[in-house]
Amino acid sequence: MTQTPTTTRQITLASRPNGAPTSENFRLETADLPNLAEGQVLVRNTIMSVDPYMRGRMNDVKSYVPPFQIDAPLDGGAVGEVIASRSAEITVGTHVLHGLGWREHAVVAAENATVIDAEAAPASAYLGVLGMPGLTAYVGLTAIAEMREGDTVFVSGAAGAVGQVVGQIAKALGAKRVVGSAGSAEKIERLLELGYDAAFNYKETSVREGLREVAPDGIDVYFDNVGGDHLEAAIGHLNRFGRVAMCGAISQYNATEPAPGPRNLALAIGKGLTLRGFIVGQQAHLADEYRTQAVAWLADGRLRGDETFRDGVEGAPQAFIDLLEGANTGKMLVRL
Ligand SMILES: NC(=O)c1ccc[n+]([C@@H]2O[C@H](COP(=O)([O-])OP(=O)(O)OC[C@H]3O[C@@H](n4cnc5c(N)ncnc54)[C@H](OP(=O)(O)O)[C@@H]3O)[C@@H](O)[C@H]2O)c1
Repeated sequence: MTQTPTTTRQITLASRPNGAPTSENFRLETADLPNLAEGQVLVRNTIMSVDPYMRGRMNDVKSYVPPFQIDAPLDGGAVGEVIASRSAEITVGTHVLHGLGWREHAVVAAENATVIDAEAAPASAYLGVLGMPGLTAYVGLTAIAEMREGDTVFVSGAAGAVGQVVGQIAKALGAKRVVGSAGSAEKIERLLELGYDAAFNYKETSVREGLREVAPDGIDVYFDNVGGDHLEAAIGHLNRFGRVAMCGAISQYNATEPAPGPRNLALAIGKGLTLRGFIVGQQAHLADEYRTQAVAWLADGRLRGDETFRDGVEGAPQAFIDLLEGANTGKMLVRL
């Protein structure tokens, strides 16, 4: 019989990044694992997620989630197998999704763990296409941007975890034309394979020019993952009564000064535009609806999600640094 571990390797925040994070901001440590209390399970994490929102949590500012603390372990989405349990509901051998990533083993209260069906889909899918990023795509497109059949939809950050799913869902829901932007020729090629009608590399052309080329008749919906010049160009290119789902602003996450707003915001008046922000957690009631729909789309091939894997908890900081620089296609994950 294998022994239950008493320690875990984990990543702590050594210092707060100023601008882009570097490896010096992180530290690999070994920590003692507490004995399980009644109602807790010990999880051997197998895959953890790195996500752009974690950059915001590295700053000491008030936000919709509390900041990470210096010298404390980071956290975030992870999946793993229960190897010890003091919960009647979750037994040893169960695969669960929970919020204590950035470590090899986690002590989790059973009520904070969601049992996943590792037979129905690979465990990694619950961190990507079937998980938080997938739900973000669905919620942003349907509940926030209120996409309708026949719309032309523009997605920035289109080759990432959220963006890949947005384009495919838009197609599945009857968009007339789906166009995207991403940061490399390989990513553009992949978007076309995934069913995007056209896409441009924003590093090779201005967003304004790119949009004119891929959507000459304008756009009705803009799913914004990037902010900055993407948002400004989209406002200029939106048709009357166009809608923007403000999902993320990754072009500004490493900024050390507040970024200026779009210079053409006043165009929203005459065009009757709607710009609406959201946080996926505010729309949790749509999770079951999305999961059911996504499982069906995955089965019939209308939905595919790429994954970029890195290895080892010690590789997690670099995976996160690389995510912000665009090294991933689809979901960036770390195998533990
Ligand atoms: N509102 C919510 O509840 C919610 C939930 C999840 C995610 N989000 C947001 O959604 C966005 C996408 O998240 P994700 O998890 O799917 O990440 P992701 O797109 O898989 O990864 C981030 C990508 O951003 C792109 N990027 C980095 N710097 C950029 C820049 N200056 N300009 C344009 N693109 C840049 C990179 O791709 P390129 O090679 O294309 O540059 C990189 O691959 C993020 O803004 C995130 O914060 C919001």
